[in-house]
Amino acid sequence: MEEIIAHIVKDLFDVDVDIALTRPDPEFGDYASNVALQLAGRLQKNPREVATAIAEKLKEQSAVASAEVAGPGFINIRMSGRTLAEEIQSLWSDTYGSSDDGAGKTAVVEYPSPNMAKPYSVGHLRSGNQGWAARQLLRATGWNVITDNHLGDYGAPLGIWITGFTHFSSDEALAKDGVYELGRVYIETRQALKDEEARGESALADEVQSWLLKFENGDEEAKAYSKRFNEISLAHIHGVMDRLKISTDHELGEAFFAPRGKDAVNKLLGSGIAVQNEDGSVIVPLDDYGFDVPLLVQKSNGAALYATTDLATILYREREWRPHKVVYSVGSEQQFYFSQLFAMAKKLGITADLTHLWFGFINQRNEDGTVGKMSSRKGVVLMEELLDQAEERARAVVEGRDVSEEDVKKISLGAIKFSDFMADRRTDILFDWDTIFALKGFSGPYVQYAGVRVARILSEHGQGVALQEGYDYEPEKAVIAQLLEYPDVVRRAAEHLEPHRIATYVYELARELNRYYEATPVAMGDVDESTKQARLGVLAKAHQVLTHGLDLLGIEIPSKM
Ligand code: ARG
Repeated sequence: MEEIIAHIVKDLFDVDVDIALTRPDPEFGDYASNVALQLAGRLQKNPREVATAIAEKLKEQSAVASAEVAGPGFINIRMSGRTLAEEIQSLWSDTYGSSDDGAGKTAVVEYPSPNMAKPYSVGHLRSGNQGWAARQLLRATGWNVITDNHLGDYGAPLGIWITGFTHFSSDEALAKDGVYELGRVYIETRQALKDEEARGESALADEVQSWLLKFENGDEEAKAYSKRFNEISLAHIHGVMDRLKISTDHELGEAFFAPRGKDAVNKLLGSGIAVQNEDGSVIVPLDDYGFDVPLLVQKSNGAALYATTDLATILYREREWRPHKVVYSVGSEQQFYFSQLFAMAKKLGITADLTHLWFGFINQRNEDGTVGKMSSRKGVVLMEELLDQAEERARAVVEGRDVSEEDVKKISLGAIKFSDFMADRRTDILFDWDTIFALKGFSGPYVQYAGVRVARILSEHGQGVALQEGYDYEPEKAVIAQLLEYPDVVRRAAEHLEPHRIATYVYELARELNRYYEATPVAMGDVDESTKQARLGVLAKAHQVLTHGLDLLGIEIPSKM
């Protein structure tokens, strides 16, 4: 309805407005709008005149049963339940909400791209959530989607790991604590390197360099270490991704692209896009793209940098997949870097739409009331601990009920993931356990519960009929109106890669369903069989849309909660 009014206003007065409808007393109508009052000043017109013009147009809409001007310029709108029901039935299919807008086009979506040296932390949670949602939205709108986990598996860490392991760790410790031991060793070694530097010594630092050199020269011992550490780290990363229920088609990390970087840099030099400095380093000047700072693509010693591997990645994807769109799900702190990288890509003649799907930080409220980056007493919050804690919370939510472990996991993920989509991804998240599990709030579990409830009704009473002869669908109007909006919401969410639009939508649908049950007995009391079947038919549609919408966010509906 909001959309329709916005269109009418645009046609009549050529202005864009955001329409927020209210729900008046049913005696006056199903919806009320004060848009005419808002507009009158802007248009220098009498509000009643504006309202009358809009109301006349509204009446031409098949779904609108009546539109009346009231008071100083309110518009009360009454919908036709029957027309809405017929309309949704005509649009209905098993894939309602999906479209083929992106048919014939390929998108590469990159997430969660964690770094190998450390245990998976909450720092890569949003990349996975947002990246997965982007994948889902693009697939639902017909794109051919290729996903890639761009692992941070290249560079100094290996030298630090090996040196650190030989000094500060042991086979037993590694066998016992795996990636956490590697993470600990990494931190301890970094500290030892700092201390050593402060003392003006370099024995340890030399060892780091010599291991790196050995590795580059194919030394067997260094290769064996690398393989062992990588296996531990990768198994851990995959374990966390499995728990998060995300996966990718490919896993081409920085280490895969580093050797290809040299060629790419040489090509840039050959074509004059890049310039070599006297010290041997290579830069790409970007002043013609409005950047004072050039992009450094090769160190003076010839070593590959982050940008070198990304350059090679862009060329590789272009050659292998010919994407129309490439989506990088990476935090806001890399915005400047990606704007430089994309400018360089333009210079190279890349025409694909390169999108930095950036998002804000995950913050927490500290005990002293201040807001800061999410952390624990031990430092960064580890994903495995966060997931354990979430499962504990979920278990508490369903306490005393016979709910399976699998459902507990679905609820915990529902809570965590939904919190990523509560607002525009660019805003920071204020992580709070009570809010994300609030069964009465804007939360994943609230929406999941609506799904469980509707599924239970359907399993007890059947799926009803799609469109009941002779039934007016008056009590179902608001639910059906909400269902009718879904395809547009998906389309817009996919176009802007804004999954929060889906989260808001499913929440509103859940709320609409709850309102509906309060007012309308579906299968209780003296509801006659034909009415019951009609009502169940609407609920079956709502269930399909809730499931589809949550699936776009990577959230499943538990079987019980
Ligand atoms: N591993 C990087 C990090 O954690 C993210 C990689 C992003 N992708 C890219 N193509 N640069 O910061």
